Amino acid sequence: MNTLPKPTIESVLQQTRQETGLAPSELRILMGHITGLDRVGLVTQSHQELPVDQLNTFKSLATKRQQGEPIAYLIQEKEFYSRPFFVDSRVLIPRPETEELVEHALGFLQSKSTENLLTRVLDIGCGSGAIAVSLALENPILEVTASDISADALWVAQFNANKLGAKNVRFVQSNLFENLLNQTPPLAFDLICSNPPYIELGDQHLSQGDLRFEPQQALTDGGDGLRFYREIALHSPALLRAGGGVLVEHGYNQQEAVKALFSKAPYVHVQGLPDLAGTPRFVFAQT
Ligand SMILES: C[S@@+](CC[C@H](N)C(=O)[O-])C[C@H]1O[C@@H](n2cnc3c(N)ncnc32)[C@H](O)[C@@H]1O
Repeated sequence: MNTLPKPTIESVLQQTRQETGLAPSELRILMGHITGLDRVGLVTQSHQELPVDQLNTFKSLATKRQQGEPIAYLIQEKEFYSRPFFVDSRVLIPRPETEELVEHALGFLQSKSTENLLTRVLDIGCGSGAIAVSLALENPILEVTASDISADALWVAQFNANKLGAKNVRFVQSNLFENLLNQTPPLAFDLICSNPPYIELGDQHLSQGDLRFEPQQALTDGGDGLRFYREIALHSPALLRAGGGVLVEHGYNQQEAVKALFSKAPYVHVQGLPDLAGTPRFVFAQT
């Protein structure tokens, strides 16, 4: 009687590649996630038999990937600022450009920390906590407040703060400024930063690629894409210490419109900044 050859890591990778057309690099990421093997392990142990439960999980993830589900959601992880953040479909997958927002924020906060007060920063729409938790870990003497309208997102952000060891972040559920203004004693920050939902309602990108799987609430403001910048420009001054700043990320074609929103008093210095690809991406405004 002929017995079928046992499925090995290598044979399953090859067969799934033929069946799905997925890139070998992506299949290796999924296989590494399931077996717990790193890239070297996948090579040195490629002839090892794959247990049937792992085989089934791998096939199921490969099918989901073939259907377009983002790899970060499938492995529930995305690296951001060199740290592994937990992500799932409750939060936006943090983008590489946003790491540059963290860089700019740290630079500005560094200049503030020479003064004698504890330096405080607010991240509006924290999602997975990518910005807030990275800032808190990069500079443990900061006091970071992370807010989001979504209780689900706040759960993930809090989970990441615990997992990555950030002790200097607190979380507030708030629809924009609703639960941040009028607190006793009043909140006061040196920097308010945000990567808000900025895609215009009806934009074709919302029904393409990874965006199909991400929370709509994290992507679009349900209007012209500028609603959050209007609100942030209007209400931030009430929460800023003297000389405080606002730093926002925006869409590739929104810089002039966002700068215009920050062009009135009390903002004195408004600067547009590109990302590393040269695309206008951030606006910094100081009071
Ligand atoms: C583009 S995502 C940014 C997530 C994270 N900061 C990042 O950069 O990866 C925008 C976030 O804003 C949150 N959000 C949407 N509407 C909001 C509102 N009215 N008030 C506060 N947060 C809101 C969403 O839940 C989402 O987590």
